[in-house]
Amino acid sequence: MKKSQWMASFVLCCMALFSSAQTQAQELVNGQLWMDTDGKHINAHGGNILQYDGTYYWYGENRPDRGFTTEEGVGVYSSADMKTWKNEGIALAVSQERGHDIERGCIMERPKVVYNKKTKKFVMLFHLELKGRGYEAARVAFAQSDSPTGPFRFIRSTRVNAGKWPFDMNKQAQKAAQGTDASKWKDWWTPEWRKEVEKGMYLWRDFEGGQMSRDMTVFIDDDGKAYHITSSQENLTLLVSELTDDFLDFTGKFNMVAPGGQNEAPCMVKHNGTYWLICSGCTGWAPNEARMFSAKNIWGPWKQWPSPFVGKATGYHDMPANKTFGAQGTFIYQKEGKPFFMADIWNDRHLSQSLHLWLPIEFDGNGTPVIKWVDKL
Ligand code: GAL
Repeated sequence: MKKSQWMASFVLCCMALFSSAQTQAQELVNGQLWMDTDGKHINAHGGNILQYDGTYYWYGENRPDRGFTTEEGVGVYSSADMKTWKNEGIALAVSQERGHDIERGCIMERPKVVYNKKTKKFVMLFHLELKGRGYEAARVAFAQSDSPTGPFRFIRSTRVNAGKWPFDMNKQAQKAAQGTDASKWKDWWTPEWRKEVEKGMYLWRDFEGGQMSRDMTVFIDDDGKAYHITSSQENLTLLVSELTDDFLDFTGKFNMVAPGGQNEAPCMVKHNGTYWLICSGCTGWAPNEARMFSAKNIWGPWKQWPSPFVGKATGYHDMPANKTFGAQGTFIYQKEGKPFFMADIWNDRHLSQSLHLWLPIEFDGNGTPVIKWVDKL
């Protein structure tokens, strides 16, 4: 082979390799690694998708390969087609300042970014744990940016609804809650303990300092109002809280959902006027059976349904529907008017390598959500 022929074959070979890498980058197969345009697995977990001005933005926990703390911050990727994702870097960076709420080594989880049409700002809410304190701080944090890719400016972190009662809790129920004493109950899960939880034992314990807030989501209703939905009270009870018009604070109006039900990873979708909440149980990084609730009004009453997951996962360890196909939900995004369940298949030994699982949500004849495994979208 002449030198020029050899060069031409070499160039052709490189082009073929390059184009196959490009095709691979666009192939997002559930249960496998998902590559960005740099050929790296997308390191955005527990996050959400925001569509803005014709582009999709995917926010998520940027996790180190080893360990559980946040070393970089919240990452963001962009895409025009929801398949080819470009790494846009860190949207909200950890602080290098000692003692700062988001000091490097804190834990930032479940970031949700929404666009506020009134202020024309991008607002991020996330679950924050302070450095060196495990999961005891249980706070929600706020950050804001002028651009979808950041940099987001940290605003503050806080417990929620300090000094406030759920808006529909009458005086008698408030009195019953005030009669509880969490310090007395060392043994959990007895019928007596459960009764006290339902009365609002942890609500009362944290009444003054504010309620705990861990796994969370943000839901924007058709009228533009935003709600923060979080696992509170030792992850036993969900709280739905109304946010102020700028999305940077709570109005003080809130309600409890399924007291004592131990629901985490809340994801919300509204379909034909009904609100559907899909959650997980509390087994840390290990998968469990999803739970579902519906309500005609965001303030309840909420009715519990069986898990919407049916069938089997093909190609991914045969994970059954009653283990949410090995995943835990993080958000329900809309694409072309259709809802998709966005979840993480956690890899607790290498969190950055946790897999992504996106599945379409269908509705049966009665309008009830059904989620089946699909290999690809
Ligand atoms: C899960 C939760 C995750 C993370 C993890 C820590 O239950 O959904 O967001 O907090 O526990 O163990």
